[in-house]
Amino acid sequence: MSSYDLLIVNGLVVTASDIGHYDVAIKSEKIALLAPRGSLAGIEADKVIDAEGGYVMPGGVDAHVHLEEPPLFGKGRSADTYETGTRSAICGGTTTVITFAPQSKDRTSLLSVLEETHKKAENNCYTDYSFHLLLSNPTPSILNEFPKLRNEGISSLKIYMTYEALQLRDNQILDVLLAARKDSITTMIHAENGDILSWMTDQLEQRGLVEPKYHATSRPQLVETEATNRAITLSEMIDTPILIVHVSSPSAAMHIRNAQTRGLPIYAETCPQYLFLTRDDLDKPGFEGAKCVCSPPPREGKEDHKGIWLGLQNGTFTVLSSDHCPFVYEDAELGKKSVIGAEFPLGRFRYIPNGCPGIETRLPLVFSEERLELTKFVEVTSTNAAKLYGVYPRKGALLPGLSDADLVVWYPPGRLEEWRVRNQDLHHGVDYTPFEGRLVRNWPRYTVLRGKVVWERDGVGVVGGKGWGRF
Ligand code: URP
Ligand code: ZN
Ligand code: ZN
Repeated sequence: MSSYDLLIVNGLVVTASDIGHYDVAIKSEKIALLAPRGSLAGIEADKVIDAEGGYVMPGGVDAHVHLEEPPLFGKGRSADTYETGTRSAICGGTTTVITFAPQSKDRTSLLSVLEETHKKAENNCYTDYSFHLLLSNPTPSILNEFPKLRNEGISSLKIYMTYEALQLRDNQILDVLLAARKDSITTMIHAENGDILSWMTDQLEQRGLVEPKYHATSRPQLVETEATNRAITLSEMIDTPILIVHVSSPSAAMHIRNAQTRGLPIYAETCPQYLFLTRDDLDKPGFEGAKCVCSPPPREGKEDHKGIWLGLQNGTFTVLSSDHCPFVYEDAELGKKSVIGAEFPLGRFRYIPNGCPGIETRLPLVFSEERLELTKFVEVTSTNAAKLYGVYPRKGALLPGLSDADLVVWYPPGRLEEWRVRNQDLHHGVDYTPFEGRLVRNWPRYTVLRGKVVWERDGVGVVGGKGWGRF
């Protein structure tokens, strides 16, 4: 019998804390050993990967993914199932995803929502996975279920300050935060002032300003900044941690940083859309801009991107997630045609489902920019999410005996010619990517999940199978 199941040799190993020339030995789904390069020569293994000098990192943890959700936002069908979404994830180096178990307003039991979400995911995933609850109706009986969540392996939930079907008032947010505090649950908050943006939407429509680019006009930075500040105040009031999701605005990031400087437990997340897309992407000819409609919207330009990169570099942002929210593009088109009629031939932005796909492009896009220290890259794309959501050090680390053998092996520098993202090369179920044509300089060459190679870019591609992924 072989000593090890898999060896990865000649790599430059990068974790959130260290970089070094190590060979990695894997046994029984775990990291068994990190040994100085070359020192495992002659050791028996079932399989050996020669990294040829490429970086070897813990597998990506994507902590903000929407899969197979019902049309909670009132529009748009999910284009990805657990199968297609997690398949896409491994092809982009992500080995763990945290998706949402969504409570629509009529649901009176969180445990039954969880059970239903488990049914969708079980035996269908290519990655390991967990769930955040998505809470839309925090009644007293729903809040009474919080103590049971930890037993179910759930330690986080998301609430909204916007979207008609989901928006909570401040008193409801306080109720949620108080209950979350009692059970040590982390509350994720979508911070946009829903009242301002729907008022703005009405105002714009009355003036006939309805094309996709006006989605951004309806939600200026102020809308996000005000809600972010309010969320921080509510968290301070209850003295409990929150995480502000998908931050797009440097001024919101500044509020978060100030709160962190005051010692408040405020965590924050940003996403590639806010590093790469701008308002101009919403203004593409025809209805193409609809492909880049998300909330908060992509901001004005390079200065805003710079502010968000800075927040990643200086630690304001704890995690960089995809907010993969895969809608069928046709649904935006349908909305445009059927609802609008002749009055607005270009369609109304109000009917465009909000959200972009990006689970597969998250790591390569950000890695290719070379704007984060390598250790910081691992920290924000993997390790911090694992810590924040209770799966560290099984995930997000390469600690012998403790960590699952989840790894990404990149091409050696200069080995992969620069190439452009094309939707036809991706593995999600969506018929577009908002990042079409963007330049990338590297891509995960191998992805390993619990010791098994699941993605081999130069070979057959996807070699993992659905169902290898576990809760
Ligand atoms: O536009 C976005 N972000 N759509 C996904 C749903 C959400 O709010 O995260
Ligand atoms: Zn959100
Ligand atoms: Zn989201």
